[in-house]
Amino acid sequence: MPAQILDGKQIAAEVREEVKQEVARLKEQGITPGLAVVLVGDDPASQVYVRNKHRACEEVGIYSVVHRLPAETTQAQLLELITQLNNDPQIHGILVQLPLPGHIDEKTVIDTIALEKDVDGFSPANVGNLVIGDKCFYPCTPHGCMVLLDKTGIDPKGKKAVVVGRSNIVGKPMAMMLLARHATVTICHSRTKDLAEECRQADILVAAVGKPEIITGDMIKEGAVVIDVGINRVGEKKLVGDVHFESAAQKAGWITPVPGGVGPMTIAMLLKNTVEAARR
Ligand code: GUN
Repeated sequence: MPAQILDGKQIAAEVREEVKQEVARLKEQGITPGLAVVLVGDDPASQVYVRNKHRACEEVGIYSVVHRLPAETTQAQLLELITQLNNDPQIHGILVQLPLPGHIDEKTVIDTIALEKDVDGFSPANVGNLVIGDKCFYPCTPHGCMVLLDKTGIDPKGKKAVVVGRSNIVGKPMAMMLLARHATVTICHSRTKDLAEECRQADILVAAVGKPEIITGDMIKEGAVVIDVGINRVGEKKLVGDVHFESAAQKAGWITPVPGGVGPMTIAMLLKNTVEAARR
């Protein structure tokens, strides 16, 4: 039987509605959640992401400021802006859009964001707290994957989860979050000996490698939950995931489409983290 669809668009809309209500409650207490987004340079994809984040904030009533800086901005200038935002009581969350121009050290920049305002959850201190199970912000994309599971009633406890990809932004935090929810977790990557065999063990399979359609139906266990984080452009217009949807959907029990799966969840989680930052 073909898989059921994990509808990220619909679930993200539900989350945004919940966030909107929470923002209204906070405003009654005199708190308006505020997010500052910093964009350096003119990378076209980043410009689109930043515009979408700003718009999503406005829709739920979050105060949003975008700082657009020229590509020649020095690291010292950027750090100075972040310090100002760290000290600005109207700003509860700070997001520096990545990638940054080559002359700026991303690690130094991210580490300058105050821990309590790091709504992306990328700073070493936040990641450390995530690993030890302390209070932290969940990075938006893996957080979105977990909410997709939760809202569909899929409990990772005791299940075998396989995460394909070991990035700091998705793969590693995803594995930690599944582990915290009592899944038995395997992380696969480019040097994994037999990727297909590892994937076939998965009750929950998360693909986050950025390679178009490398996970095919023959690599999927009957009835598995398949979450595809990949968004790969092929040709002029077509977007595909890391999973070959048509063949995988014949085996999986649940599957996310691309687009319309994990993508819409990421911004919804940024809104959620910003409200959480304001609430704290
Ligand atoms: N660039 C691509 N995705 C992201 C993200 O989630 N956060 C930031 N800060 N930059 C990105």
